[in-house]
Amino acid sequence: MSAPTLAIVAAGAMGAAVARRLTTAGCIILTNLDGRSPATRARAAAAGMHDVPMVELAARARWVLSILPPSDALAFAARFKDAHAQSRSSQGATAAAIAFADCNAVSPETVKRIAALFTGSGVGFVDAGIIGGPPREGYDPVFYASVAPEDSALLEEFAGLKRWGLNVSLLKGEGAGVGDASALKMSYAGISKGIIGLCSTMILAAHASSPATAQALLHELSASQPAILQRITKSVPNMLPKAYRWVGEMEEISAFVGGGEAQVHRGLAALYARIERSLQEERKGEEGGEDVRVLRAFVEDAKRVVGQGQGQE
Ligand SMILES: NC(=O)c1ccc[n+]([C@@H]2O[C@H](COP(=O)([O-])OP(=O)(O)OC[C@H]3O[C@@H](n4cnc5c(N)ncnc54)[C@H](OP(=O)(O)O)[C@@H]3O)[C@@H](O)[C@H]2O)c1
Repeated sequence: MSAPTLAIVAAGAMGAAVARRLTTAGCIILTNLDGRSPATRARAAAAGMHDVPMVELAARARWVLSILPPSDALAFAARFKDAHAQSRSSQGATAAAIAFADCNAVSPETVKRIAALFTGSGVGFVDAGIIGGPPREGYDPVFYASVAPEDSALLEEFAGLKRWGLNVSLLKGEGAGVGDASALKMSYAGISKGIIGLCSTMILAAHASSPATAQALLHELSASQPAILQRITKSVPNMLPKAYRWVGEMEEISAFVGGGEAQVHRGLAALYARIERSLQEERKGEEGGEDVRVLRAFVEDAKRVVGQGQGQE
Protein backbone atom coordinates (compact mmCIF):
# COMPACT_ATOMS: atom_id res chain seq x y z
CA MET A 1 0.00 0.00 0.00
CA SER A 2 1.49 3.37 -0.96
CA ALA A 3 1.66 6.07 1.67
CA PRO A 4 -1.13 8.66 1.39
CA THR A 5 -0.79 12.39 0.77
CA LEU A 6 -2.20 14.41 3.65
CA ALA A 7 -2.40 18.10 4.45
CA ILE A 8 -1.75 19.51 7.91
CA VAL A 9 -2.59 23.10 8.76
CA ALA A 10 -0.80 24.46 10.63
CA ALA A 11 2.82 23.71 11.44
CA GLY A 12 2.46 24.65 15.10
CA ALA A 13 4.02 22.68 17.95
CA MET A 14 1.48 19.89 17.46
CA GLY A 15 0.91 20.05 13.68
CA ALA A 16 4.62 20.04 12.79
CA ALA A 17 5.37 17.14 15.15
CA VAL A 18 2.47 15.12 13.71
CA ALA A 19 3.73 15.96 10.22
CA ARG A 20 7.20 14.73 11.10
CA ARG A 21 5.79 11.46 12.39
CA LEU A 22 3.91 10.95 9.08
CA THR A 23 6.73 12.07 6.75
CA THR A 24 9.06 9.68 8.58
CA ALA A 25 6.63 6.88 7.62
CA GLY A 26 6.76 7.98 3.96
CA CYS A 27 3.63 10.16 3.71
CA ILE A 28 3.69 13.38 1.69
CA ILE A 29 2.50 16.23 3.90
CA LEU A 30 1.20 19.41 2.31
CA THR A 31 0.52 22.64 4.14
CA ASN A 32 -0.19 26.27 3.36
CA LEU A 33 2.04 28.92 4.88
CA ASP A 34 0.31 32.08 3.59
CA GLY A 35 0.63 34.73 6.29
CA ARG A 36 2.48 32.44 8.70
CA SER A 37 5.32 33.45 11.02
CA PRO A 38 9.02 32.61 10.50
CA ALA A 39 8.80 30.13 13.42
CA THR A 40 5.98 28.22 11.72
CA ARG A 41 7.83 28.24 8.39
CA ALA A 42 10.95 26.85 10.08
CA ARG A 43 8.96 24.07 11.80
CA ALA A 44 7.25 23.16 8.50
CA ALA A 45 10.62 22.91 6.72
CA ALA A 46 12.15 20.83 9.51
CA ALA A 47 9.19 18.42 9.38
CA GLY A 48 9.52 17.98 5.59
CA MET A 49 6.15 19.64 4.83
CA HIS A 50 5.45 21.09 1.37
CA ASP A 51 4.05 24.62 1.16
CA VAL A 52 1.40 24.74 -1.61
CA PRO A 53 -1.51 27.06 -2.45
CA MET A 54 -4.79 26.11 -0.73
CA VAL A 55 -6.44 25.11 -4.01
CA GLU A 56 -3.61 22.70 -4.79
CA LEU A 57 -3.76 21.34 -1.25
CA ALA A 58 -7.50 20.71 -1.70
CA ALA A 59 -6.87 18.95 -5.01
CA ARG A 60 -4.05 16.66 -3.85
CA ALA A 61 -4.65 15.62 -0.26
CA ARG A 62 -6.74 12.61 0.74
CA TRP A 63 -6.96 13.91 4.32
CA VAL A 64 -6.77 17.42 5.73
CA LEU A 65 -5.91 17.61 9.42
CA SER A 66 -6.87 20.95 10.92
CA ILE A 67 -4.52 21.53 13.89
CA LEU A 68 -4.43 25.21 14.81
CA PRO A 69 -5.59 27.58 17.57
CA PRO A 70 -9.20 26.62 18.44
CA SER A 71 -10.38 30.18 17.83
CA ASP A 72 -9.30 29.86 14.16
CA ALA A 73 -10.80 26.41 13.53
CA LEU A 74 -14.12 27.51 12.01
CA ALA A 75 -12.57 30.24 9.83
CA PHE A 76 -9.96 27.82 8.50
CA ALA A 77 -12.60 25.20 7.66
CA ALA A 78 -14.55 27.83 5.71
CA ARG A 79 -11.37 28.87 3.89
CA PHE A 80 -10.61 25.27 3.03
CA LYS A 81 -14.18 24.69 1.82
CA ASP A 82 -13.86 27.62 -0.63
CA ALA A 83 -10.51 26.29 -1.89
CA HIS A 84 -12.04 22.83 -2.33
CA ALA A 85 -14.98 24.26 -4.30
CA GLN A 86 -12.50 26.07 -6.56
CA SER A 87 -10.40 22.94 -7.10
CA ARG A 88 -13.55 20.91 -7.83
CA SER A 89 -14.79 23.39 -10.42
CA SER A 90 -11.50 23.08 -12.32
CA GLN A 91 -11.12 19.28 -11.92
CA GLY A 92 -14.77 18.29 -12.37
CA ALA A 93 -15.53 14.55 -12.26
CA THR A 94 -11.82 13.65 -12.03
CA ALA A 95 -11.56 15.22 -8.54
CA ALA A 96 -10.31 12.73 -5.94
CA ALA A 97 -12.20 12.10 -2.70
CA ILE A 98 -11.07 14.18 0.25
CA ALA A 99 -11.86 14.20 3.96
CA PHE A 100 -11.38 16.88 6.60
CA ALA A 101 -10.56 16.04 10.21
CA ASP A 102 -10.96 18.84 12.70
CA CYS A 103 -8.43 17.96 15.43
CA ASN A 104 -8.80 21.11 17.52
CA ALA A 105 -9.88 21.66 21.08
CA VAL A 106 -13.31 23.06 20.16
CA SER A 107 -16.72 22.49 21.72
CA PRO A 108 -19.10 19.90 20.24
CA GLU A 109 -21.28 22.82 19.10
CA THR A 110 -18.38 24.42 17.19
CA VAL A 111 -17.38 21.11 15.61
CA LYS A 112 -20.98 20.53 14.51
CA ARG A 113 -20.95 23.97 12.85
CA ILE A 114 -17.71 23.00 11.09
CA ALA A 115 -19.20 19.65 9.99
CA ALA A 116 -22.32 21.45 8.70
CA LEU A 117 -20.11 23.61 6.44
CA PHE A 118 -19.19 20.47 4.49
CA THR A 119 -22.69 19.05 4.07
CA GLY A 120 -23.24 18.35 0.37
CA SER A 121 -19.74 19.59 -0.54
CA GLY A 122 -18.25 16.15 -1.26
CA VAL A 123 -15.82 16.52 1.66
CA GLY A 124 -15.99 13.75 4.29
CA PHE A 125 -15.84 14.91 7.90
CA VAL A 126 -14.23 13.44 11.02
CA ASP A 127 -14.46 14.98 14.49
CA ALA A 128 -11.10 14.37 16.19
CA GLY A 129 -9.67 15.43 19.53
CA ILE A 130 -5.98 15.11 20.41
CA ILE A 131 -5.16 14.08 23.97
CA GLY A 132 -1.50 14.34 24.95
CA GLY A 133 1.48 16.43 23.86
CA PRO A 134 3.16 16.56 20.43
CA PRO A 135 4.64 13.26 19.19
CA ARG A 136 8.29 12.69 20.07
CA GLU A 137 10.67 9.76 20.13
CA GLY A 138 8.84 6.88 21.80
CA TYR A 139 5.63 8.81 22.47
CA ASP A 140 2.43 9.60 20.57
CA PRO A 141 -0.70 11.47 21.64
CA VAL A 142 -4.08 9.84 20.98
CA PHE A 143 -6.31 11.09 18.17
CA TYR A 144 -9.83 10.23 19.39
CA ALA A 145 -12.24 10.25 16.45
CA SER A 146 -15.98 10.06 15.86
CA VAL A 147 -18.23 10.50 12.82
CA ALA A 148 -21.88 10.66 11.85
CA PRO A 149 -23.35 7.11 11.96
CA GLU A 150 -23.60 6.93 8.15
CA ASP A 151 -19.84 7.67 7.81
CA SER A 152 -18.53 4.57 9.60
CA ALA A 153 -16.42 3.56 6.57
CA LEU A 154 -14.67 6.94 6.72
CA LEU A 155 -13.96 6.39 10.42
CA GLU A 156 -12.33 3.04 9.66
CA GLU A 157 -10.22 4.71 6.96
CA PHE A 158 -9.12 7.33 9.49
CA ALA A 159 -8.18 4.48 11.85
CA GLY A 160 -6.05 3.11 8.98
CA LEU A 161 -3.73 6.12 9.42
CA LYS A 162 -2.33 4.17 12.39
CA ARG A 163 -0.28 2.33 9.81
CA TRP A 164 1.55 5.61 9.10
CA GLY A 165 2.11 6.53 12.73
CA LEU A 166 -1.07 8.35 13.79
CA ASN A 167 -2.23 6.96 17.13
CA VAL A 168 -5.98 6.82 16.40
CA SER A 169 -8.61 5.61 18.87
CA LEU A 170 -12.18 5.35 17.59
CA LEU A 171 -15.07 6.61 19.65
CA LYS A 172 -17.99 4.58 18.36
CA GLY A 173 -20.93 2.68 19.71
CA GLU A 174 -24.34 3.60 20.95
CA GLY A 175 -25.19 7.25 20.34
CA ALA A 176 -21.68 8.21 19.16
CA GLY A 177 -21.46 10.84 16.43
CA VAL A 178 -19.89 14.14 15.41
CA GLY A 179 -19.28 16.14 18.59
CA ASP A 180 -18.34 13.21 20.82
CA ALA A 181 -14.58 13.20 20.19
CA SER A 182 -14.61 16.93 20.90
CA ALA A 183 -16.74 16.41 24.02
CA LEU A 184 -14.18 13.89 25.27
CA LYS A 185 -11.33 16.33 24.59
CA MET A 186 -13.23 19.16 26.36
CA SER A 187 -13.89 16.95 29.37
CA TYR A 188 -10.27 15.84 29.66
CA ALA A 189 -8.77 19.30 29.05
CA GLY A 190 -11.35 20.86 31.38
CA ILE A 191 -9.90 18.71 34.16
CA SER A 192 -6.18 18.79 33.29
CA LYS A 193 -5.92 22.48 32.30
CA GLY A 194 -8.61 23.43 34.79
CA ILE A 195 -6.49 22.12 37.68
CA ILE A 196 -3.47 24.15 36.50
CA GLY A 197 -5.64 27.25 36.17
CA LEU A 198 -7.15 26.77 39.62
CA CYS A 199 -3.70 26.37 41.22
CA SER A 200 -2.37 29.47 39.40
CA THR A 201 -5.43 31.51 40.40
CA MET A 202 -4.98 30.68 44.07
CA ILE A 203 -1.21 31.28 44.05
CA LEU A 204 -1.81 34.75 42.56
CA ALA A 205 -4.63 35.49 44.99
CA ALA A 206 -2.55 34.36 47.98
CA HIS A 207 0.35 36.55 46.84
CA ALA A 208 -1.98 39.52 46.29
CA SER A 209 -3.01 39.19 49.93
CA SER A 210 0.68 39.22 50.92
CA PRO A 211 3.90 37.43 49.90
CA ALA A 212 3.87 35.84 53.35
CA THR A 213 0.46 34.30 52.59
CA ALA A 214 1.82 32.73 49.39
CA GLN A 215 4.73 31.26 51.36
CA ALA A 216 2.34 29.88 53.98
CA LEU A 217 0.21 28.37 51.20
CA LEU A 218 3.29 26.69 49.75
CA HIS A 219 4.28 25.16 53.09
CA GLU A 220 0.73 24.02 53.87
CA LEU A 221 0.50 22.33 50.44
CA SER A 222 3.85 20.68 51.09
CA ALA A 223 2.61 19.33 54.42
CA SER A 224 -0.92 18.27 53.51
CA GLN A 225 -1.12 18.13 49.65
CA PRO A 226 2.43 17.22 48.48
CA ALA A 227 1.18 15.67 45.22
CA ILE A 228 -0.49 18.96 44.24
CA LEU A 229 2.64 20.99 45.07
CA GLN A 230 4.77 18.57 43.05
CA ARG A 231 2.40 18.90 40.13
CA ILE A 232 2.56 22.72 40.32
CA THR A 233 6.37 22.61 39.91
CA LYS A 234 5.98 21.04 36.46
CA SER A 235 2.59 22.08 35.14
CA VAL A 236 2.72 25.83 35.86
CA PRO A 237 5.99 26.47 33.93
CA ASN A 238 4.76 24.24 31.08
CA MET A 239 1.54 26.24 30.91
CA LEU A 240 3.11 29.70 30.50
CA PRO A 241 3.99 29.52 26.77
CA LYS A 242 0.58 27.97 26.01
CA ALA A 243 -1.54 30.40 28.04
CA TYR A 244 -2.57 32.38 24.93
CA ARG A 245 -3.96 29.27 23.27
CA TRP A 246 -5.71 28.07 26.41
CA VAL A 247 -7.86 31.23 26.51
CA GLY A 248 -9.86 30.05 23.49
CA GLU A 249 -9.83 26.48 24.76
CA MET A 250 -11.32 27.49 28.14
CA GLU A 251 -14.02 29.46 26.30
CA GLU A 252 -14.87 26.38 24.23
CA ILE A 253 -15.00 24.24 27.39
CA SER A 254 -17.25 26.81 29.02
CA ALA A 255 -19.63 26.64 26.03
CA PHE A 256 -19.54 22.84 26.25
CA VAL A 257 -20.40 22.78 29.98
CA GLY A 258 -23.17 25.40 29.69
CA GLY A 259 -25.49 26.61 32.45
CA GLY A 260 -24.22 28.29 35.60
CA GLU A 261 -21.21 25.98 35.77
CA ALA A 262 -19.97 27.48 32.49
CA GLN A 263 -18.61 30.31 34.68
CA VAL A 264 -15.87 27.98 35.99
CA HIS A 265 -13.92 27.77 32.73
CA ARG A 266 -14.97 31.29 31.65
CA GLY A 267 -13.10 32.46 34.75
CA LEU A 268 -10.10 30.34 33.80
CA ALA A 269 -10.14 31.89 30.30
CA ALA A 270 -9.81 35.28 32.05
CA LEU A 271 -6.92 33.91 34.12
CA TYR A 272 -5.03 32.63 31.06
CA ALA A 273 -5.63 35.96 29.26
CA ARG A 274 -4.21 37.75 32.33
CA ILE A 275 -1.12 35.50 32.29
CA GLU A 276 -0.63 36.09 28.56
CA ARG A 277 -0.85 39.88 29.11
CA SER A 278 1.76 39.58 31.83
CA LEU A 279 4.05 37.56 29.53
CA GLN A 280 3.73 40.19 26.81
CA GLU A 281 4.59 42.97 29.24
CA GLU A 282 7.64 40.96 30.28
CA ARG A 283 8.69 40.36 26.65
CA LYS A 284 8.38 44.04 25.77
CA GLY A 285 10.34 44.98 28.88
CA GLU A 286 7.37 47.09 30.00
CA GLU A 287 6.29 47.78 33.55
CA GLY A 288 4.28 44.78 34.71
CA GLY A 289 4.91 41.14 34.15
CA GLU A 290 4.29 40.81 37.89
CA ASP A 291 1.93 37.82 37.63
CA VAL A 292 4.47 35.77 35.70
CA ARG A 293 7.21 36.70 38.18
CA VAL A 294 5.01 35.63 41.10
CA LEU A 295 4.19 32.26 39.49
CA ARG A 296 7.82 31.56 38.58
CA ALA A 297 9.06 32.49 42.05
CA PHE A 298 6.43 30.26 43.66
CA VAL A 299 7.49 27.36 41.43
CA GLU A 300 11.18 27.86 42.28
CA ASP A 301 10.41 27.90 46.01
CA ALA A 302 8.14 24.87 45.57
CA LYS A 303 10.91 22.94 43.80
CA ARG A 304 13.26 23.60 46.72
CA VAL A 305 10.67 22.50 49.27
CA VAL A 306 9.73 19.39 47.26
CA GLY A 307 13.44 18.58 46.82
CA GLN A 308 14.07 18.92 50.58
CA GLY A 309 11.09 16.65 51.26
CA GLN A 310 12.41 14.02 48.90
CA GLY A 311 15.88 14.33 50.41
CA GLN A 312 14.45 13.46 53.83
CA GLU A 313 12.81 10.26 52.56
N1 LIG B 1 0.52 21.45 21.78
C1 LIG B 1 -0.12 20.52 22.47
O1 LIG B 1 0.42 19.94 23.42
C2 LIG B 1 -1.52 20.11 22.05
C3 LIG B 1 -2.09 18.99 22.68
C4 LIG B 1 -3.36 18.56 22.32
C5 LIG B 1 -4.06 19.27 21.36
N2 LIG B 1 -3.49 20.35 20.75
C6 LIG B 1 -4.31 21.08 19.77
O2 LIG B 1 -3.57 21.37 18.61
C7 LIG B 1 -3.99 22.63 18.08
C8 LIG B 1 -2.76 23.45 17.79
O3 LIG B 1 -1.97 23.58 18.96
P1 LIG B 1 -0.41 23.89 18.88
O4 LIG B 1 0.15 23.55 20.20
O5 LIG B 1 0.21 23.30 17.68
O6 LIG B 1 -0.45 25.48 18.74
P2 LIG B 1 0.77 26.45 18.41
O7 LIG B 1 2.08 25.81 18.67
O8 LIG B 1 0.45 27.72 19.08
O9 LIG B 1 0.68 26.64 16.83
C9 LIG B 1 -0.44 27.21 16.21
C10 LIG B 1 -0.12 27.24 14.73
O10 LIG B 1 -1.29 27.68 14.03
C11 LIG B 1 -0.89 28.72 13.14
N3 LIG B 1 -2.04 29.58 12.92
C12 LIG B 1 -2.52 30.55 13.73
N4 LIG B 1 -3.62 31.09 13.20
C13 LIG B 1 -3.82 30.46 12.01
C14 LIG B 1 -4.78 30.60 10.97
N5 LIG B 1 -5.78 31.47 11.08
N6 LIG B 1 -4.67 29.80 9.88
C15 LIG B 1 -3.67 28.89 9.78
N7 LIG B 1 -2.73 28.72 10.74
C16 LIG B 1 -2.82 29.49 11.83
C17 LIG B 1 0.26 29.39 13.84
O11 LIG B 1 1.02 30.12 12.90
P3 LIG B 1 1.82 31.46 13.31
O12 LIG B 1 3.11 31.01 13.91
O13 LIG B 1 1.98 32.18 12.03
O14 LIG B 1 0.93 32.21 14.28
C18 LIG B 1 1.01 28.18 14.38
O15 LIG B 1 1.78 27.57 13.38
C19 LIG B 1 -4.96 23.24 19.10
O16 LIG B 1 -6.29 23.09 18.69
C20 LIG B 1 -4.69 22.44 20.34
O17 LIG B 1 -5.81 22.35 21.16
C21 LIG B 1 -2.24 20.78 21.08
